Amino acid sequence: MGIIERQDLLAVYYAGNSREQTKYRHEYSLVEVKKRERDLSPLLKKLPADILRFLEIAGDLAEKYQLRLYLVGGQVRDIFLKVENRDLDLVLEGDLESYIRELADVFKVQYIYNAQFRTGNLVLPCGLNIDLAGLRRESYRYSGALPDVEPAEDILEDLFRRDYTVNSLVLSLNKAEWGLLLDFFNGLEDLQEGKLRLLHPFSFLDDPIRIIRGIRLAVKTGFTFEEESFALLEEVLTKADFSRLSLDRVLKEMELLFASPVDPALVALLRSYPVFRLLKLELEIDEKLTEQARELESYLAEFGEKNYNIEEWVMRMALFLADAGEGVLNWKVRSDFKEIFLAYYRYKHLLVELDRNLAADELAAKLKGLRDEELLILLVKAGSRRIKENILRYMKELKDIELKINGRDLLANGLEPGPLIREILDEVYRKRLKGSLDTREEQLAYARDLIRKSGENKE
Ligand code: CTP
Repeated sequence: MGIIERQDLLAVYYAGNSREQTKYRHEYSLVEVKKRERDLSPLLKKLPADILRFLEIAGDLAEKYQLRLYLVGGQVRDIFLKVENRDLDLVLEGDLESYIRELADVFKVQYIYNAQFRTGNLVLPCGLNIDLAGLRRESYRYSGALPDVEPAEDILEDLFRRDYTVNSLVLSLNKAEWGLLLDFFNGLEDLQEGKLRLLHPFSFLDDPIRIIRGIRLAVKTGFTFEEESFALLEEVLTKADFSRLSLDRVLKEMELLFASPVDPALVALLRSYPVFRLLKLELEIDEKLTEQARELESYLAEFGEKNYNIEEWVMRMALFLADAGEGVLNWKVRSDFKEIFLAYYRYKHLLVELDRNLAADELAAKLKGLRDEELLILLVKAGSRRIKENILRYMKELKDIELKINGRDLLANGLEPGPLIREILDEVYRKRLKGSLDTREEQLAYARDLIRKSGENKE
């Protein structure tokens, strides 16, 4: 029986305080919890020199105050995967604020400290981004809530709040135990076998965003979900209620998921797992998306020189949201993001109209006002070659054409204020699109001609 079916158990779990939640995680843990150790100091020597130097200095500083310091999370995982990672997560047993202050002092950098969450951050000039945290115990009041944070009793309890076993490995940085790997959840074996395994069955409910993190990790490493964790993933995605999950938090994780070009493996995973349910969206993920994503990348590279002021992840995600429509309309997100997410939904009717030979002015009239990013989404989604050619022609040849005269010029030439001003400017613009009237003088002469003719018509 799945965890959600056992509603009674969930009710007790979410009614419990943080200590009780830890107890439940332990009791139902998906692996045998046992401390396994291994000397990794030879592996550490292969780290980039700046990372190694930082870890040594940070470890020595902790030693000086007899505090224990650990490297945790993604960096430890990536040491084994031999993937470069410029983010470091450190956990300190002891007074975090004074430790960070001194550490920042040693490196002569600024630091941030958050007393409520017992976390801090500093960035070194060499680009290393260092997150620090005290031992934390997290508990959730309901599925998808922000966690309440309290001090944890030991490193094991701190690790129990984390997502996958491969992210639960810790490395001791103190001198006496330099490079000693502590593996409580058999994460090393999962890492070697390429398995994503949750620590406990409440994990996806505590924080459904971990599903997206898992998919990101699966794409990056080729790992697959272990059977029981996969069953939990499917159960949560089909039955859980995400109504209280914060849109901002999900989008932050989506931003990471779509930070790099869309891999065919990602399309396959998103086809199999309805992760967009976390955004309350039921989407059909089409196989065609792999090709569309590839096409998008080539257009992004081609038009990239134009300096988009929008993040590429938004464009990549917009491809997947093409049919989301109504579901996205109410999102409280940056308006430019929303326009791009909604581009296909709003303008797909144009694609039909663009599937014929169009004169420059007709084409411009249809696509005028759309931003580059919206045009790119339509371009990638367009079914026929003719539509694509039309959109590209507009983007490359017509979009940037502007008139060198304006309404004031027409007033100065004797035209009365009124709708005729717009009509004459439009007429000049149409002629300009056809390739003539390059200079201001020519445009002005043509406009005068039109003003004169309109006067004659009146008489
Ligand atoms: N974590 C979690 N649930 C989240 C976010 C983070 O359990 N929603 C845990 C993970 O165990 C993770 C650790 O917190 O290893 C640190 O988080 P973060 O720095 O975001 O991730 P990393 O795994 O270190 O790095 P990456 O983003 O490269 O996977």
